[in-house]
Amino acid sequence: MSSYRLENTWSPEPAPFGTLKVTLWNLSETPLSDFRLAYTSLTRAMKPFTVSGAELELRDANYHRYAPPADLVVAPGESWSFEVTNLNRDPRHITDGAKSAILTLDPAGAKTHVEVEVSDLYPEGRELVEPGPLLPEGKLTEPYAILPWPAALELEAGETPLALCPAPGASREALAAFSQVEALHRRLYPEARTVLSMVPMPGTRAVAIEMGGDFAEGAYALEIAEVITLKAADDDGIRHGLIVLAQMLHGATVDAASFRFPASGTITDAPRYGWRGSHLDVSRQFWDAADVTRFLDILAWHRMNIFHWHLTDDEGWRMEVKAYPQLTEAGATRGPDALLTPQLGNGVDEVHGHYTQDQIRDVVAHAGALGITVVPEVDIPGHCTAALAVIPELADPQEAPESYHSVQGFANNALNPAREETYDFLAKLFDEMVELFPAKYLHIGGDEVADGSWLNSHYARLLMEKEGLSGTFELQSYFMRRVAGMLAERGRVLAGWNEVAHGGGVDPEGTLLMAWEKPEVGIELAKEGYDVVMTPGQAYYLDMAQAEEWLEPGAAWAGTSTPVHSYTYEAEGEFPEELRPRLKGIQACIWCEHFTSRAYFNRLVFPRLCGVAEAAWTPKERKDLHRYAAIVKLHPAF
Ligand code: ACM
Repeated sequence: MSSYRLENTWSPEPAPFGTLKVTLWNLSETPLSDFRLAYTSLTRAMKPFTVSGAELELRDANYHRYAPPADLVVAPGESWSFEVTNLNRDPRHITDGAKSAILTLDPAGAKTHVEVEVSDLYPEGRELVEPGPLLPEGKLTEPYAILPWPAALELEAGETPLALCPAPGASREALAAFSQVEALHRRLYPEARTVLSMVPMPGTRAVAIEMGGDFAEGAYALEIAEVITLKAADDDGIRHGLIVLAQMLHGATVDAASFRFPASGTITDAPRYGWRGSHLDVSRQFWDAADVTRFLDILAWHRMNIFHWHLTDDEGWRMEVKAYPQLTEAGATRGPDALLTPQLGNGVDEVHGHYTQDQIRDVVAHAGALGITVVPEVDIPGHCTAALAVIPELADPQEAPESYHSVQGFANNALNPAREETYDFLAKLFDEMVELFPAKYLHIGGDEVADGSWLNSHYARLLMEKEGLSGTFELQSYFMRRVAGMLAERGRVLAGWNEVAHGGGVDPEGTLLMAWEKPEVGIELAKEGYDVVMTPGQAYYLDMAQAEEWLEPGAAWAGTSTPVHSYTYEAEGEFPEELRPRLKGIQACIWCEHFTSRAYFNRLVFPRLCGVAEAAWTPKERKDLHRYAAIVKLHPAF
């Protein structure tokens, strides 16, 4: 139990972003003096630092370290406060204040770090309103627990069978598919009874699997009679049909008052989009390989087929690279005395997290067996603080410190496009990645390079002169074109965030970009000839708060993304007919700045992830918010 507590409040004056007031309570039995206080907070102090009652000694992204007045003594039971203005933005939600705090005693000597309790950020004097329900209660017109809902369905409800079992004479492949889907069901619902059994018993129904026929990728048909027939032309279609059967029977067994299993009828189903994805940021908060495997199970249960694994960012490099072990040593470690400062809820204890290449192979294999393609992302050239901290040759050594800052407040965080060392590094990195990841696409990020990056670099200036380039984004385009070429040499295709198109972009033919900044960007990219996946922050960023109210946790910079909006939003809404073929699908993005606990992850990601899954699969005219709200209550969390 900590003997110290930090409380923070916010008030709106002075404009534009107001004042953060920080109070440290000494709950120990001894007077507190000669210390430093650090906290991590996405509401940041900006230069020139404007602090009254303390001195801000260091601010590194969201890590802030303060020195108290020299003669300050905080008596037991007393508190000390200071105020910070010139903030980066005005906070909007309870999670916008300190996420962790660290007291350092005897800072010039033994430097003992002590954990400080923190709590939510409150706005001073404002009456806070409780958020209402995030989804309607739910209403079923058909009693079947299927999510995503099929394209076409005509069923008569019947008795609930004990279980479903393979029809006599099933092939090895059919038996294996049966077993695999039951294993998935069991991992997701370990407390529920088996729904797909190998053993016929009184009360079981037989399922005959027929492979072949004229079906689109991942499509399937179910003919439900005394014997159920599942037809598809590929393994994905068979798995999808079995998952739908398993979902219906699971629903009927755990909530018999709401859900039934069909006696007869048909389901004819095919995915709306070929790209039904979710991204997961494992840099800001690290989720270990077992967590990632569980996440894949959840995607598979929703018939999603792309896992976009955001493996690197400023906060940590998470993928083992044999040529550069330092990336996953110091580059994946944060702490008060580590090379990388604490961020985003890190406290006294050093935190480390990375995946070995063996773990990565296991994750890729697990995904593949569930029909999920792993698209790995290394976020370059920006978002590279962790990599640059351990491989400084990838920056210009003569570039002044703090020449530019990313929107998250990291200084000089972009690989230098004018250093050949950068391309030597990437060649070795890509060589290892293509061995680990069979996917056609390799995602290279490309987002949020700060305007002004590299302009103080002598090397970059020489390159600009030689190549006739002007400004940060033409340099970025030069870099991206070389990267696209390096990927092509290795048989892979570039995927990236929408800013890859800036400054001249790359050859759009075959390049896949994710439109995140706003929906119109997706249409612009398609016009330019890029393939597009829609990931607009306003609908599909699952770290955005789910309601406007201060008490609702989450981010606000892309607006509020209610579960109703995540579900009902139509990504192709404004897409002109002739550009529709460029729209490959949609994707949820799970950025983890705010997910300092699994509980917060679950609270924000679910059920919105299930809503995006249905938006990715189900035709627009078959979406039904009330049905979705009724069924999603059965769905597993992380
Ligand atoms: C992003 O949200 N920076 C892709």
